[in-house]
Amino acid sequence: MASSFGAAQVLVASNRGPVSYEVGEDGSLRARRGGGGLVSGLSAIGPEAGALWVCSALSDGDREAVRRGAGEDGVRMLDIPADVHADAYNGIANSVLWFVHHMLYQTPLEPVFDAEFRRRWASYETYNRAFAEALAEEAAQGAAVLVQDYHLTLVPGMLRELRPDLRIGHFSHTPWAPPEYFAMLPGDIAAQVLRGMLGADRLGFLTHRWADAFTACCERFTGGLGGTAVGVHGLGADADFLRARSHEADVEERITVLREEIGEGRRTIVRVDRTELSKNIVRGLLAYRQLLDDHPEWRERVVHVAFAYPSRQDLAVYRDYTAEVQRLAEEINERYGTPGWRPVVLHVKDDFARSLAAYRLADVALVNPIRDGMNLVAKEVPVVSDGGCALVLSREAGAHEELGEDAITVNPYDVVETSRALHEALTMSGDERADRTKRLAAAATALPPARWFLDQLDALRGTTASG
Ligand code: F6P
Repeated sequence: MASSFGAAQVLVASNRGPVSYEVGEDGSLRARRGGGGLVSGLSAIGPEAGALWVCSALSDGDREAVRRGAGEDGVRMLDIPADVHADAYNGIANSVLWFVHHMLYQTPLEPVFDAEFRRRWASYETYNRAFAEALAEEAAQGAAVLVQDYHLTLVPGMLRELRPDLRIGHFSHTPWAPPEYFAMLPGDIAAQVLRGMLGADRLGFLTHRWADAFTACCERFTGGLGGTAVGVHGLGADADFLRARSHEADVEERITVLREEIGEGRRTIVRVDRTELSKNIVRGLLAYRQLLDDHPEWRERVVHVAFAYPSRQDLAVYRDYTAEVQRLAEEINERYGTPGWRPVVLHVKDDFARSLAAYRLADVALVNPIRDGMNLVAKEVPVVSDGGCALVLSREAGAHEELGEDAITVNPYDVVETSRALHEALTMSGDERADRTKRLAAAATALPPARWFLDQLDALRGTTASG
């Protein structure tokens, strides 16, 4: 696949790349391109900037594309053996590091760090090493390398040894665990993760809270940050893209369908998430049920539009969680529904155009994660909303640091408080809702994706390579 053989000036490394492949029935390869902050950032520096994105093959289609050498320019996909990748991605990154940073363990029974964990950890090391070696091979002298996320915590340290001349950055898109929770990891593993990260010249986080937690972990486990700089870059929503995209024909069509599902003259409480344990969808439904109990006047007059898109379905705990979301939505519909009113409209098939349609229609947005690096839905809804939207927002979302003042803040574990917040949001006057939405949209777009990326690149180039 595309290789620049030591010529790349700017390199990005992430588990999931900007493109994925499927093999069609006729054997041809179909490429699908993704979006997000990194894609905007790289397009902002332009094709002549010598950029290369190193990512992992994730599916059979991706592996086939690597074998056929059918890659896109500017992307190098690593064909890491499927079993190694599964151990690293599902077994360590998503089942251990994600759980630690989002504080998701049910601690009486988990985690258990046994021999199986050590076996998977060895795969995580192998997977990180494959990235470090590819980056070392591709990077030009003194190039800037931007490593992404908890999948690749060991890469900065490994790469530093291979290529002391490089400027190495790492960005965490998740929260960081406080030291007392991080300390659950076996001591040698905790130190290895932190030392791996500290191989970077500069580390980026989404909020001060996560940056401070990382620094506190280093103070406790590695004796401090050493020479590594830490910066905060609060990724914002892409206003231009969202405003244009949300007025395209497919979104208008979805609005018509959604309006029929909701019914004439009803208020809407909208949520859009990956079906992710940390998103707290189940307690969101419980809070809605509480609202219908405490305020029967809302029955028939409100609909909870909940989009819960499949994610990480290789993990049993995610499959179980998805089933619980569906079960509870059905239970609410059976208990409260009437012939002309379905209280919860739940969709689980990923459809970006329909998400934007729901954003435009929303009277209330419910964003109540247990813990979240940022949460871009909280930032996107106010930008796209047609008539102004009240935001019910968890204090544990990174976005709360920037949006808290104009949102209605909730403790994500307290479903009674959340149901009261929903009532307050539904009864907020139109004027107040519009004013708050304006301020929320301004705060949400303060750091657009391209600027977010370029700021990191500039800051990294301003550091001294610590070789
Ligand atoms: O940091 C969290 C993150 O990696 C996001 O960048 C992304 O939205 C999400 O998790 C999805 O993860 P996955 O690649 O496992 O589907």
